Amino acid sequence: MRSTIQPPITGQTAPASRPKVAIIVGSTRPGRKAEAVATWVHTLAAHRDDATFEVVDIADYALPHLDEPVPPRAGHYSHPHTHAWAQKIGSYDAYVFVTPEYNASVPGALKNAIDFLYAEWNGKAAGFVGYGIQGGIRAVEHLRQILGDLEVAPMPTTVALTLADDFQDHVHFTPGAVPAENVALMLDELVARTARSRAAGRVGADLVGHE
Ligand SMILES: Cc1cc2nc3c(=O)[nH]c(=O)nc-3n(C[C@H](O)[C@H](O)[C@H](O)COP(=O)(O)O)c2cc1C
Repeated sequence: MRSTIQPPITGQTAPASRPKVAIIVGSTRPGRKAEAVATWVHTLAAHRDDATFEVVDIADYALPHLDEPVPPRAGHYSHPHTHAWAQKIGSYDAYVFVTPEYNASVPGALKNAIDFLYAEWNGKAAGFVGYGIQGGIRAVEHLRQILGDLEVAPMPTTVALTLADDFQDHVHFTPGAVPAENVALMLDELVARTARSRAAGRVGADLVGHE
């Protein structure tokens, strides 16, 4: 099976449907904070009428360490778990990555989940919500670099949650007002960018297909 991105269609009418945005839970660790953070982002996004939002948990896809014999860029996926993951990710127009910082970078499970695919990410846009001792900034910066290779456009506003300020006793999620304002800004950027790209017929879930 092969994944392809179709060339732009000149004069194509802008899709009338609202962009679909996946909020990706970047940690698979038992007891993870990522679920609470992703749910918070989803709650803040839910009132918007310019896009639809869903939480996507990479733990639900039980991906092994990358086991595809052919590099994903070629689009020849062979395993059922890859097809399931590709179908899910390919169905969105944009992404919000919720990521903790592990050893100054992204969790291995998140990097692995990204590595599995190519066409499904390619040409879309992404926003970032990081958390850690210093707001997960190093993880987010690495994500920007990783996604750059997939030609994913990173949004400028980063949401940085610190364990000291946004998690009571460093454990229970108690976000302040400023991070919530930053989520709104980041989503504004993400939705506007995605709407522009879709109107130009350049990207979109509807342009990702499988042979
Ligand atoms: C393997 C590991 C490495 C970590 N490394 C860092 C780090 O480099 N910087 C940081 O700010 N926090 C670090 N932490 C703390 C995490 O940011 C914190 O435990 C966070 O809750 C993890 O997210 P999760 O609960 O959603 O998995 C690390 C945690 C783990 C488990």
